[in-house]
Amino acid sequence: MPKRTVLITGASGEIGQALIKSLAGDELTTLITVDLKPLPDELMEKSTHFVGDLLNKELLSLLEEKYDFNLIFHLAAVLSTTAEYNPLLAHKVNTCSTIDLLEMATRQSQEQSKPVKFLFPSSIAVYGLPDLETKNQFMAIKEHDWTEPTTMYGCSKLYCEKVGIYYSEYYQQLADQEPIRLDFRALRFPGIISAFTIPSGGTSDFGPEMIHFAAQGKPYDCFVRADVRIPFMVMPDAVRSLLMLANAPKENLQTRIYNVTSFSLSAQDFKDLAQNSFPGAEINFKPDPKRQAIVDTWPADIDDSAARNDWNWKPEYNILDACQDYLLKNISKLYNL
Ligand code: SER
Repeated sequence: MPKRTVLITGASGEIGQALIKSLAGDELTTLITVDLKPLPDELMEKSTHFVGDLLNKELLSLLEEKYDFNLIFHLAAVLSTTAEYNPLLAHKVNTCSTIDLLEMATRQSQEQSKPVKFLFPSSIAVYGLPDLETKNQFMAIKEHDWTEPTTMYGCSKLYCEKVGIYYSEYYQQLADQEPIRLDFRALRFPGIISAFTIPSGGTSDFGPEMIHFAAQGKPYDCFVRADVRIPFMVMPDAVRSLLMLANAPKENLQTRIYNVTSFSLSAQDFKDLAQNSFPGAEINFKPDPKRQAIVDTWPADIDDSAARNDWNWKPEYNILDACQDYLLKNISKLYNL
């Protein structure tokens, strides 16, 4: 197998950290990572890490000059709740940095005479159901349905999906000769639950927050109603899906944008789970009507049959395994229970 150079942006974030752990053992991979923050101590040795802002053109030029990337995981983003407080910042971080990286990957595809793979985490936030009645009627949403986002985060993810397709299929479409274009692939993730890190700034955070607070014996006020339901998956499956899509033969892919999910849970299901696992956990529902309204536009579940058909996607963790084999075991270690 030839050696490859992999870039991970947003590397100090939740998915970034998990992806580094999973790629670090691979001797054929040179890992280059970027984030506004340093990596946690235990990951410092695992990559060449740059602390800096992707919007800084000098940083991008330096990376481009120094490395020939074969695969890019562009994870850096402002999440949905934070983005509502600062939409312009979200636009810059979520879309401008994506365009700059797509441009860089396009130049490198041409220099290397082969497509650079560009993996992009999109989200259930690209969907926007108009009301709860519709949400309850259309339980498992397919990729082309209801793509009417109501958040800046959702808008930016949907736009990046579209320009990713543009750079892969149509870039320089009027030129005399077809250029070598990059190979963009995106996953629409549900809420993600990690046993090791707590999310921040997202609107699906109520699920993982509830479990982590319960494990630490801290009371938790849930910011959505008990009946609010969206899909979720645990971090190992999220990372597996990213790597599976990166490795999938191009000829098997019928689209560049795939839903992936594992299970659909209501906030009450999370409460039951947390209280069964950590008896005595104090969890109250104190909905924040505005944050809740965002989650109400997200689908109760998504249909990931395209990923299952095209690249054999299947989550390893159903809800029971996720709890027993992943969350409980690792969270207990994390908090020395
Ligand atoms: N987890 C993200 C958020 O809540 C959605 O993809 O912002």
